[in-house]
Amino acid sequence: MKNFLSFADAGEYKALLRQALDIKANPYGYQHVGKNKTVGLIFFNPSLRTRLSSLKAAYNLGAQAWVLNAGADSWTLEMADGAVMNGTTQEHIKDAIAVMSQYCDVLGVRTFPTLKDKEADYSEEVLTKILHYATVPVISLESATLHPLQSFADLITVAETKKKERVKVVLTWAPHVRALPQCVPNSFADWFSEIDWVDFVITHPQGYELDPKFTKGATIEYDQRKALEGADYVQAKNWSSYRDYGQVLSNDPSWMLTPEHMARTNDAKFIHCLPVRRNVEVSDAVLDSPNSLIVQEAGNRTFSMQTVLHELLK
Ligand code: CP
Repeated sequence: MKNFLSFADAGEYKALLRQALDIKANPYGYQHVGKNKTVGLIFFNPSLRTRLSSLKAAYNLGAQAWVLNAGADSWTLEMADGAVMNGTTQEHIKDAIAVMSQYCDVLGVRTFPTLKDKEADYSEEVLTKILHYATVPVISLESATLHPLQSFADLITVAETKKKERVKVVLTWAPHVRALPQCVPNSFADWFSEIDWVDFVITHPQGYELDPKFTKGATIEYDQRKALEGADYVQAKNWSSYRDYGQVLSNDPSWMLTPEHMARTNDAKFIHCLPVRRNVEVSDAVLDSPNSLIVQEAGNRTFSMQTVLHELLK
């Protein structure tokens, strides 16, 4: 593993998953790997889970960690190559990332999409610059198009709770009050369409089709209720349109997941990356039910990050 930006960087996923389950069973057993190592974390956007689980993962691994909130804690960064910096920006990303690489052995970066410029977002314009200027391995803490640490934690959660060899996993779109990125569903599709013991189905209203390069031929079912039939795991998530880029095309409340929806499943476990808009995306009754794995799933963010750090630092 050179960087961790998508499923492709996981290599042989079964080996990485086994490693994650070993690390979870013995979280302090690999501290020789992190000894005298520093994890740098730069956030261009807010976070609760990614920030705290990354710090905890570094701690478990015996490494030190620092966090920089770009813009808020540091100089205002200029992103444009060749810019004449006579405006409000104070430091070029080129210099900032090269310098930060001096202060860590691995660099985690969170950089959300604009949701305005599809080409810039889907070419991962900011992350690509950071990869270019970094001299240490880079971990995506959620980029413009993907959130691989979340999907890896989702995989750990499904793997450690499944009761049978093959499972049906359904990703369902859910309503929201704002336009959200496609990173989490793209990434979930990127990972779960590759898992050979998963029957993977995506359900959403017309117009919410994800980039086919991530869905990779997964079954798309526009009838949510039909999609949920026989599901063993349900992941709910809102996203804005990829086709009509960044637009909200539907707020249909009938897509909010309720016990009536879950009654169609095979007593499915429920997962969600969080944060969740309660009683907009998913009802309290589903989120607080015994089948809800949302807290366990968030806990597994520590072990997805710790496993990736282990691979990059060992
Ligand atoms: N799921 C997730 O990435 O949470 P945060 O945005 O709080 O980090």
